[in-house]
Amino acid sequence: MKKNTVFDCSIVDLSKVHSDVGNITIVENNDYLPFAVKRIYYLYDVPGGEDRGGHAHYELEQYIVAASGSFDVVLDDSKNKQKLSLNRPYLALHIVPGIWRELNNFSSGSVCLVLASHEYDEKDYIRDYNAFLKYKK
Ligand code: TYD
Repeated sequence: MKKNTVFDCSIVDLSKVHSDVGNITIVENNDYLPFAVKRIYYLYDVPGGEDRGGHAHYELEQYIVAASGSFDVVLDDSKNKQKLSLNRPYLALHIVPGIWRELNNFSSGSVCLVLASHEYDEKDYIRDYNAFLKYKK
């Protein structure tokens, strides 16, 4: 986890079942998912200009999906930074453990859906950026 870099994170095409009456994207604990989902949560009603995230995890990995609208994710492994814009409900950003992330530029009405590999555990968070840099050394 310590050695993970932003290049270990990737955009995964979850694909969609298209029809004239709307689309559907399915996520199952199968080949598309490199971890079993233990928790789902979603962020919404984020006021314009607000930032979320600002932490890393020791063990947790996640799929992050712009279920509606758009937002940006800045990934940081202490040496490299990468900014991605999420704006398609069939694309997931896989964030591996040991990566600092910040989410910003939320569009009005956007929904950030998160599939997580573990239940909530505050002990798994690194919330101090200097502590993160020290961990990654
Ligand atoms: P946090 O993970 O810091 O939010 P973000 O990274 O999106 O800015 O969580 C915000 C608050 O919500 C914090 O007090 C912890 C709480 N929380 C839970 O209780 N359970 C959860 O599964 C999550 C994700 C957060």
